[in-house]
Amino acid sequence: MHEESAEDFPYRTEYKKKSIRSYVIRAGRMTEGQRRAFDNYWGTYGLSLFDGPLDAEQVFGREAPLVLEIGFGMGDSLLAMAEAEPDKDFIGIEVHPPGVGRLINNAGKAGIGNLRVYMADAVDVLNDCIPDASLDRFQLYFPDPWHKKKHHKRRIVQPEFVRLLCSKLKAGGLMHLATDWENYAEHMLEVLEAEPALENTAGAGQYAPRPEFRPETKFERRGQRLGHGVWDLLYRRR
Ligand SMILES: C[S@@+](CC[C@H](N)C(=O)[O-])C[C@H]1O[C@@H](n2cnc3c(N)ncnc32)[C@H](O)[C@@H]1O
Repeated sequence: MHEESAEDFPYRTEYKKKSIRSYVIRAGRMTEGQRRAFDNYWGTYGLSLFDGPLDAEQVFGREAPLVLEIGFGMGDSLLAMAEAEPDKDFIGIEVHPPGVGRLINNAGKAGIGNLRVYMADAVDVLNDCIPDASLDRFQLYFPDPWHKKKHHKRRIVQPEFVRLLCSKLKAGGLMHLATDWENYAEHMLEVLEAEPALENTAGAGQYAPRPEFRPETKFERRGQRLGHGVWDLLYRRR
């Protein structure tokens, strides 16, 4: 069997050492198309955690509202949003290489200019690359729910994470979360309601209707097939 070497495929997920991670990097196999996408399009779309603070104006060659999405999965909904809102620039962060490959492949074929991606741990990217008060919108759709109680500490939505995100949002910027796991939705609501820098657009303690700008995601459809509900949470940075 052919063993993949770093020479065959030099693109690696970037992260710093930490004790608790919100993900496990799965050894999911990449399709030939996803693999080729890195050679064809990583140079156009890829950003590195190790390049330090992001200068969005320089990267996109214009001044435009900036949207950041963490955990875009296979990337179809993020690509649809970038296509639907050409007046905004989009940054996606994902640790799963096949999803990154799929997104940059489809973006490259469609000639999308308002999108860039990090293949890295989002917490590291937030800390090292995203300037304070630079985001107009932040989105996190169907993050891994970590069902078992003993794994709840791995859930990415925690008070400290939300505080970090708030520091990256502009005043008036939107924070949009969605999940198909009721217990996680309740946890998100509790954490967001307790953050004084945020105001719930739906009214205190309320979930929001799905805003027009969010397409259905792959994980959302999977949840629906399993009979799950969907909870959107939409807050504004004070
Ligand atoms: C359940 S999937 C949802 C994917 C997509 N948003 C959707 O709705 O179809 C969660 C994704 O978040 C990614 N993820 C989890 N923790 C992350 C982190 N710290 N940084 C970047 N991506 C992360 C996982 O690799 C996974 O692809």
